[in-house]
Amino acid sequence: MENNKLIELLNEMTVEEKIGQLSQISGEPYASENFEITGPLAEMGIPKKLVPIAGSILGASGAAATKKIQERYLKESRLNIPLLFMADVVHGYKTIFPIPLGIGATWNTDLAKESARVSAIEAAVSGLHVTFSPMVDLVRDPRWGRVMETTGEDKHLNERFAEAFVHGYQGENYSDPYAIASCVKHFAAYGAPEGGRDYNTVNMSERQLREDYLSAYQAAIDAGTELVMTSFNTVDGIPSSGNKWLLNDVLRKEWGFDGVIISDWGAVKELIPHGVAADEKEVALKAMTATLDIEMMTFTYIRHLEELINEGKVSAKSLDEAVLRILRLKNKLGLFENPYRAADAEKEKQLIFSDDHREKANRVAEESMVLLKNNSVLPLDAQKQKIALIGPFSKGENMLGEWSWKGEPDSASQIFDIMKERLAPDQLLYAKGSEIKETTEELLKAAEETASGADIIVLALGESADMSGEAASLTDIKLPPAQIDLLKRLSKLDKPIVTVLFNGRPLDLNDVEKYSDAILEAWFPGTEGGQAVTNILLGKTNPSGKLPMSFPENVGQIPVYYNHFSTGRPVETTTNRKYASKYLDCSNYPKYAFGYGLSYTTFLYSELTLSKEHMTKDETLEVTITVTNSGTVKGKEVVQFYVRDLVGEVVRPKRELKGFEKITLEPGESKKVTFKVSTDMLRYVHSDLSVSADTGEFEVFAGGSSLVTESKKFLLKEQ
Ligand code: NOJ
Repeated sequence: MENNKLIELLNEMTVEEKIGQLSQISGEPYASENFEITGPLAEMGIPKKLVPIAGSILGASGAAATKKIQERYLKESRLNIPLLFMADVVHGYKTIFPIPLGIGATWNTDLAKESARVSAIEAAVSGLHVTFSPMVDLVRDPRWGRVMETTGEDKHLNERFAEAFVHGYQGENYSDPYAIASCVKHFAAYGAPEGGRDYNTVNMSERQLREDYLSAYQAAIDAGTELVMTSFNTVDGIPSSGNKWLLNDVLRKEWGFDGVIISDWGAVKELIPHGVAADEKEVALKAMTATLDIEMMTFTYIRHLEELINEGKVSAKSLDEAVLRILRLKNKLGLFENPYRAADAEKEKQLIFSDDHREKANRVAEESMVLLKNNSVLPLDAQKQKIALIGPFSKGENMLGEWSWKGEPDSASQIFDIMKERLAPDQLLYAKGSEIKETTEELLKAAEETASGADIIVLALGESADMSGEAASLTDIKLPPAQIDLLKRLSKLDKPIVTVLFNGRPLDLNDVEKYSDAILEAWFPGTEGGQAVTNILLGKTNPSGKLPMSFPENVGQIPVYYNHFSTGRPVETTTNRKYASKYLDCSNYPKYAFGYGLSYTTFLYSELTLSKEHMTKDETLEVTITVTNSGTVKGKEVVQFYVRDLVGEVVRPKRELKGFEKITLEPGESKKVTFKVSTDMLRYVHSDLSVSADTGEFEVFAGGSSLVTESKKFLLKEQ
């Protein structure tokens, strides 16, 4: 439809119809011809008049179901304005990819884009138009359960993944029926709740917000994301959904975002318990003044907006602008011409879980896994060794992780089944050993007996899926004691132990480290998880994941992240150590650092060189490093590039990731990797909130983790 036709359409709408566009409800009321509201939805108080005029629905899916809803809705719609279907397709629709933290561990944005494309295809044929993804909240606290939905602690890494996901979902343009719109979330700073407790207060300076926390959302917006979802938390004392400064002044005016802003589920009405609005009417006023377009699953707009307009508190113009943003999105997606878009029951059968999609899920899973320790026990020798596979994640556990909504845990590949296919019958022994949270003497004994007949033990341990994700914060991030008991008991047998971990957050791994000869971090690997793990254990695939987030020594260290500031009393250089910035009982450093991960081969870094030692603000310079595969097998390595600004107007991080490249090297092969330094890269937020680069000395580091020490210095000059 021509854009001017949208204005004509808008002019034909009643105020109530317009407000309907600003409300999102779930699909259940459309199950019956006469839009009945029953059960929990009745208890939530959905106004009956809203159902025939709501602008979008969430959580409905499947070609047949979405088509039926759209058909019924349009039959009642006076002006034939189609519904938008939105849902959480977060790391796959049916073919499930690793959790986003695992995708972050690939350090491979092409794979992230590919995973989003597969998600978009499966979602589109099932009738969805918008996914509530990517989630790009920067996080430094593994107690927060939603860390599994992020790509980790670093803004540069998050920015690159944000772009990749948006491009993957949205494709080139919407003439491609399999492109769906993306919604970046949760704006803003949802990943920094105090104490890691979900939904808790976020408290930080505007300078830090701008410096670290906003940039990944902005990257998604620059990549063209159509929607932004608000967060549950406060930003400087004001909940995001009613925060005019955040939504209107920063997001719309400063960044030029003219797409749709949607609240998180129920977040608009939560202005009342937050204590910044006395009643629903005030809530509606605040959210509307903040330019929040769609209210998800609460009903303050439909109940109070018309009254607020009549009282002159909300302008008719701002209502029209919000409605137009939603109509424009519907139009972009071609819904006025084809309200069913790509929904197609036949294509659902062909494309969902296709071999191609599964193969891609396997590839991403393999690259997501991080080898944390290996005392030369991996890869396993499939020809010679007798393997005891033990632990709750050997078979039957959910490998998909949270927010896999339509995923089918039972259709995911399991380590036991794949190993059984690959190994001779007498080579694989199995015992469960424990459940996730409990074990019995009987289970432990059976595991010991099984393991004593083997050459090596593979122990598949972890958190159950529901131990991370939304509303799943923890104050203790060790594995449940039952599983540690199992590990300790087996360690007494004096056989090598390979621990494979399935979990949604960085864990305190001290016990696991102490009793294991090798540790493979597998996250929640998705539909092809069992296959991907087995391929790595048996050496078919060389692990290449690197941590996107630091693993702390213990909870007391949190937050511990690589790009922290120096202090006035750095522990490394303060002469009187007693008064250095340190703990009495623990180091300042994480157990496993950001960017860390081993391989079955080794990589040698040499010849770090700069193209010049000075650069002016309008010049660039090049940093080159040679990487050699010094081992005996082919491998992939993530070459990481960090910069430190030695003297800033405000304190600068000890180092900051500014670039990375994943390369493949044959044994003995060397490659030169070059990173370009531009002034843009050196800019930061100053105390007056201006953004610029300071002249002076910078140090560059390149290597295989954030701990790399090899460095060179250059000078940035004005002219
Ligand atoms: C709540 C979650 O915070 C958000 O991420 C999700 O998109 C919505 N629910 C909708 O399901």
